[in-house]
Amino acid sequence: MAGPLYSIPGSTAAPPATVAVEADAASAGALESARTVGAVLAQTQAGAVMDELDRDLVGLAPVKARIREIAALLVIDKLRLNLGLSATSPTLHMSFVGNPGTGKTTVALRMATILHRLGYVRKGHLVAVTRDDLVGQYIGHTAPKTKEVLKKAMGGVLFIDEAYYLYRPENERDYGQEAIEILLQVMENQRDDLVVILAGYKDRMETFFQSNPGFRSRIAHHVDFPDYEAGDLLNIAERMLGEQHYHFGPGAREAFVEYLDRRLRQPQFANARSVRNALERARLRQASRLFSEPDRELTSDDLTTISESDIRASRVFGAPLSHEK
Ligand SMILES: Nc1ncnc2c1ncn2[C@@H]1O[C@H](COP(=O)(O)OP(=O)(O)OP(=O)(O)O)[C@@H](O)[C@H]1O
Ligand SMILES: [Mg+2]
Repeated sequence: MAGPLYSIPGSTAAPPATVAVEADAASAGALESARTVGAVLAQTQAGAVMDELDRDLVGLAPVKARIREIAALLVIDKLRLNLGLSATSPTLHMSFVGNPGTGKTTVALRMATILHRLGYVRKGHLVAVTRDDLVGQYIGHTAPKTKEVLKKAMGGVLFIDEAYYLYRPENERDYGQEAIEILLQVMENQRDDLVVILAGYKDRMETFFQSNPGFRSRIAHHVDFPDYEAGDLLNIAERMLGEQHYHFGPGAREAFVEYLDRRLRQPQFANARSVRNALERARLRQASRLFSEPDRELTSDDLTTISESDIRASRVFGAPLSHEK
């Protein structure tokens, strides 16, 4: 048999055990002799990544539970491999579906780390792309573009955002099809060195899978990202502020709760991403407010406080049908 039509350099033919040696020479031997779940988790520190995921990310209970299930499967697979019970490397490609700003990219990054720690990918980096990174404008441009991206992603995770844009049935000779064919081959033949995560809206992804059964059959794990509830969004906001050394001043939290309540009902609400954007604008307003008093000595409290007025100046409180501002 000839080798795969599309073999992307950078991928090694080496078995997973060698991969682990490269990843962490000191613990690889111990990992190979691990016989307990605890030993695998301790030696790979994959447990620590999962704990961080639980701690750092607000809400997302069903997603966190799915990630733990997948991790459990991988750890058990490692133990099976150690006893010579696994013949082939498992399929690890995934789909992350949910609305914008629900944490898909953030969780994908953590997933890449978990896969790396457990020795399923050599490097554990994440390459995030959309259709434009894979598909060319002219004949002959798509294959080199797609292969270049795959080469970059080898040894890690290729995250394809809004994956359904690859497939444009209305356009008979769409170059997306060429990218799809290359991806499908590599997902099959080089799955021991590359994990692909397809991300996007749930309904469009479903239609995409229906038209592209090759993709569906290569995806082992489907993870659903629910929209955040208002309480989660408030927690996310406070966490984001804290990370940047800001906090809500008197009345500002209540104002932000009101802001969320209004914003949630407006179009184009993008969950945690909208929260991040709203806080960016509040920071701008805070800066302008402080800027307008050039002679006042600014204390640490002045510089870290987002005031109620910084929140209430948002257009969300004014014009009934504006969005984002
Ligand atoms: N559960 C969470 N806890 C804390 N921060 C979060 C959480 N979810 C998302 N964020 C933050 O919200 C922002 C958007 O998240 P992310 O980019 O992961 O979402 P996404 O689903 O990939 O969105 P998009 O579809 O817009 O790409 C990021 O800045 C991220 O850090
Ligand atoms: Mg994203």
